[in-house]
Amino acid sequence: MRSSHVLPERPLRGLGRVCTMLRISALRLLGRTLAVRLSLPGFSSSRRYSSGPLGAGDDAHDARAYFTTPIFYVNAAPHIGHLYSALLADALCRHRRLRVPSAAATRFSTGTDEHGLKIQQAATAAGLAPTELCDRVSAQFQQLFRDAGISSTDFIRTTEVRHRVAVQHFWGMLKARGLLYKGLYEGWYCASDECFLPETKVSWQPDPSGDSCPVSLESGHPVSWTKEENYIFRLSQFREPLQRWLRNNPQVITPEPFHHKVLQWLEEELPDLSVSRRRSHLHWGIPVPGDDSQTIYVWLDALVNYLTVIGYPDAQFKSWWSTTSHVIGKDILKFHAIYWPALLLGAGMSPPYRIYVHSHWTVCGQKMSKSLGNVVDPRTCLDRYTVDGFRYFLLRQGVPSWDCDYYDEKVVKLLDSELADALGGLLNRCTASRINPSGTYPAFCTTCFPSEPGLVGTSVRAQAEDYALVSAMASLPKEVADHYANFQIYKALEAVSSCVRQTNGFVQRHAPWKLNWESPVDAPWLGTVLHVALECLRVFGTLLQPVTPSLADKLLSRLGVSASERGLGELYFLPRFYGHPCPFEGRRLGPETGLLFPRLDQSRSWLVKAHRT
Ligand code: MSP
Repeated sequence: MRSSHVLPERPLRGLGRVCTMLRISALRLLGRTLAVRLSLPGFSSSRRYSSGPLGAGDDAHDARAYFTTPIFYVNAAPHIGHLYSALLADALCRHRRLRVPSAAATRFSTGTDEHGLKIQQAATAAGLAPTELCDRVSAQFQQLFRDAGISSTDFIRTTEVRHRVAVQHFWGMLKARGLLYKGLYEGWYCASDECFLPETKVSWQPDPSGDSCPVSLESGHPVSWTKEENYIFRLSQFREPLQRWLRNNPQVITPEPFHHKVLQWLEEELPDLSVSRRRSHLHWGIPVPGDDSQTIYVWLDALVNYLTVIGYPDAQFKSWWSTTSHVIGKDILKFHAIYWPALLLGAGMSPPYRIYVHSHWTVCGQKMSKSLGNVVDPRTCLDRYTVDGFRYFLLRQGVPSWDCDYYDEKVVKLLDSELADALGGLLNRCTASRINPSGTYPAFCTTCFPSEPGLVGTSVRAQAEDYALVSAMASLPKEVADHYANFQIYKALEAVSSCVRQTNGFVQRHAPWKLNWESPVDAPWLGTVLHVALECLRVFGTLLQPVTPSLADKLLSRLGVSASERGLGELYFLPRFYGHPCPFEGRRLGPETGLLFPRLDQSRSWLVKAHRT
């Protein structure tokens, strides 16, 4: 929805130039400052500056969008990798809500994956009934996600009745279409990864006692030989349809190297897939309809969660299904990009609209694992770095295409420099009562900062770099939106951070603290410098909402920006520069509520302690 102050695009460039020339002539006639056009380095006089909102119209799936995270195993407490998966989906979803604010337009699901051998074994090892373990760990995920500001609209547990109904219905569809048969399935099974492995993906390695044991080459987890009569899905029939789907939709899997990888996998043979286990071996799961001696394979069970959430098998699910975007880690790519689309096609549905894939977090250069004792607890991180600080760190530093390394000093350094010093410092500089004694959004003076670059005169104060800043800021919302569309949230944050640096440079260059509100020469320019910086801050606050919601709220509230003025549909940067009225000009700033983001390095005692232990 657009606000009432929708601004038209700036009129034709030629007209803008004519107006500027007329203004110059008028100034001449008035015997005031003479302004002349100069050619300044760093920009071309034919460059067009524009500022406009990002409405809903740039998305093929405008009406609705459905985002999902993977559902999380409940064999162990959540770690930062799990939180990262959820945060990526959350940021995508929040950015989308800024573009399409209607509450009914976006759904976002997460949840816990509670069946299977892995959970059955973990419960036994903990001396608990599986339901007890599931309740306990699922509650930990729910609490973590609430604390971390994950804005999901649904949380699903695969032990819920609604899910069993959906899975058994889905099974019935595959059966009815002749895609399931009973046969002897023999091969290596990895309980930790809940998957079958071909001989080529298994190696023998010494266990802690020196005995040689078979392990998965990919994950390093132990595997065991399994030979059972199971239900088998005719996966091999789907090789070509999957290849066609991926070739016709080159953007389905993002980033591109993962798309390529799936196509490579599909070059190889695609054997049929066992989709059930003997119930005597695996009792913790959903029984095969009509055959109580078999339990449905946990991955089939888990993948159907995406349908359960939107009401499958009731027909209403269809309007959401076509808009589905899955966020997943690279380790579960095969399940989502091969098994899942094949199962969906088999059950008469379309494959997902998008699959966004991310890489993993390592810790001080090592894979995170319980046995290495290096699992990073996200709750401690949220406490130490604040919710917004830790969200910012993970999303700013996490690069979906490759693994990223975690260590505490890195968090402190990033947050201190980008949130506390650069952004917080900028806000402080523009709102402190010494510089802005009236506590308002000052007026922008078009004579000091004419929209046509290259004019000089005694009242023209803007320099070439200032036009570069305006240009960078005007294109920032679109740039950020493009990075979100490409699942490069870290690049969106990098772009914001770079503009924050540029804005600090602008303030530094014009040193408003040296200008005097009492002087008729200084005052219009001092107001203009603050106005431009506050406009930049307003754009930063708006664009940071998906990543640091509370910090952005604090920033926008301090600027006096109301809740209805925070969407991307309302985001016009520096309208006065483009000849339009600015609704903020002259408005009182919001109340002062302390530092935007306090520096962390003063409270580093825990950091030193943590390293000694
Ligand atoms: N239960 C399955 C998913 C079923 S979805 C139908 C599963 N669960 S998981 O708990 O093991 O992983 C959930 C998500 O966390 C996955 O996207 C996985 O990639 C992610 N991560 C697990 N470890 C991770 C890191 N070290 N770093 C980043 N993400 C990681 O798989």
